Amino acid sequence: MENKLRIAAAIAAQTGLEADQLKDWLETPPDPAMGDYAFPCFRLAKTMRKAPPAIAAELAGSIGHIDGIASMEAKGGYLNFFADKTAFVRDTLNKVLAQGDSYGNDNIGGGRNVCVEYSSINIAKPFHIGHLPSTAIGNSLYRIYKALGYNAIGINHLGDWGTQFGKMIVAYKKWGDKPVPQCTVRELVKLYVRFHEEAEAHPEMNDEARAWFKKIESGDNEAVTLWQQFKDLTLKEVGKVYDRLGVHFDSYAGESFYEDKMGAVIDELREKGLLTVDKGATLVDLSAYDMPPCIILRSDGATLYATRDLAAAIYRKNTYDFVKSLYVVAYQQNLHFKQFFKVLELMGNDWVKDCEHVNFGMVSMEEGTLSTRHGNVVYLEDVLNAAAEKTGKIIEDKSPDLPDKDDVAAAVGVGAVVWGMLYNSRIKDVTFSWNKVLNFDGETGPYAQYTHARCCSVLRKAGGYDADRIDPSCFSDDATVALAKAIAAFPAAVRGAADKNEPYLVARATMEVCTAFNRFYFCNHIMTDDAGVSAARLALTDAARITIKKGLYLVGLQAPERM
Ligand code: ARG
Repeated sequence: MENKLRIAAAIAAQTGLEADQLKDWLETPPDPAMGDYAFPCFRLAKTMRKAPPAIAAELAGSIGHIDGIASMEAKGGYLNFFADKTAFVRDTLNKVLAQGDSYGNDNIGGGRNVCVEYSSINIAKPFHIGHLPSTAIGNSLYRIYKALGYNAIGINHLGDWGTQFGKMIVAYKKWGDKPVPQCTVRELVKLYVRFHEEAEAHPEMNDEARAWFKKIESGDNEAVTLWQQFKDLTLKEVGKVYDRLGVHFDSYAGESFYEDKMGAVIDELREKGLLTVDKGATLVDLSAYDMPPCIILRSDGATLYATRDLAAAIYRKNTYDFVKSLYVVAYQQNLHFKQFFKVLELMGNDWVKDCEHVNFGMVSMEEGTLSTRHGNVVYLEDVLNAAAEKTGKIIEDKSPDLPDKDDVAAAVGVGAVVWGMLYNSRIKDVTFSWNKVLNFDGETGPYAQYTHARCCSVLRKAGGYDADRIDPSCFSDDATVALAKAIAAFPAAVRGAADKNEPYLVARATMEVCTAFNRFYFCNHIMTDDAGVSAARLALTDAARITIKKGLYLVGLQAPERM
């Protein structure tokens, strides 16, 4: 960027034209052998009353040295500029060192609110591997938006309402053998599964369940207490998993939170003439938009998932006045989001254009990845435990004397799993395999964390460096320039990730820095006899460390200093 400004200023000095305009005319030559920037001289043909090649030749003769530019060349109607690679590395390095931990941050958000809904687990249900993409992608987007100066609001839209809680109560009262707070979620899940098995032969159990849910709705003391206990127990257990993942929420307002807010929405829908009644159910007809109807009330008057989502969207707009409201939810729910966004639109809420379903593909486990002792459900907790155990063994092999081995194993194990979810465009289905995610040499979380630890170790062994002694003249070899390019590209990747709501762009940009650093480290001696060269290479190592650490943070990984 700086180079473009300097080139534009130099041409402006010769032509008297506006530098801003000239800067916009600069192009990037298709072939780098033709230079890093090209100025199309036909743009000046009218004002200068000359043929473009003549203008190019004249400018090449009259423009003197431009800081950051090594040379220029008139070619046809173009004036081509070759960047001074050493200056580019030096400028990149200075920028990172000046910004330190805030490198990659921006203030395009200007403090405006962005709602990010993610994880949204269900109470008294397994926190399973299928919730991981939402949790990981949402957490990353939450961090990315914050880094860009937005006020992100992390929301866990808990599935804590509906007739299934009536079933839970029936099952618990029939077969529960200890107070709820002493149970585990897995035990509750078992009770729930048993309910379904037995209800097949005894359908009257379903009526009982409906009656119990009615009691929850009407505030019956026993029913509400049990429901609250299921909720407390689940939140306590998932809280541990969230801590391990470093995931945070600002709000746990789930479906039950909207119980008293749906009436107003239904009234509004009715006033606006959007409701029709069909076979007793109240719905919004969406056939004009080629969609099935959005059901608002069942024939027994019960509200639905979509009804709660309508209330939640409106509540979020009123409470946070967001500029964006994101829903990180699997693509299986594409139709649901299309439907309720359409209903919001028909109600006249033009802000629905700021709501986005950030969807993602399915996760499946490679054969033999985890023994599924609990039917088909793969608990996330089990995956994280297995990951920590497996990394623990690898670390034991690689660095037996490492202090805090368990903490590092946990950080790297979690990192491997999370990175595996974030390294591809989110819409792709993910097949989880230990070999893939735990490979310390592949494009994995552990590889990125390992590269970061390597940077730390180089700096630690050198005992730091004196920034005043940096001699940038050694910044000319390919590996060094490539490293600086990868580092310089990082901030744009962070902005791009927010534009597209795609954290993988940050993961990939971080990986670019890692591979470039390892090549730089392989090609160059960092500690040399020349103090200026050593300081320069250590400083570049530091810039790589800062960038990788930021990248790891933004995708939700820890960055241990030793591995
Ligand atoms: N609890 C739901 C599930 O596990 C996801 C909720 C998605 N969010 C929403 N606003 N509908 O499938």
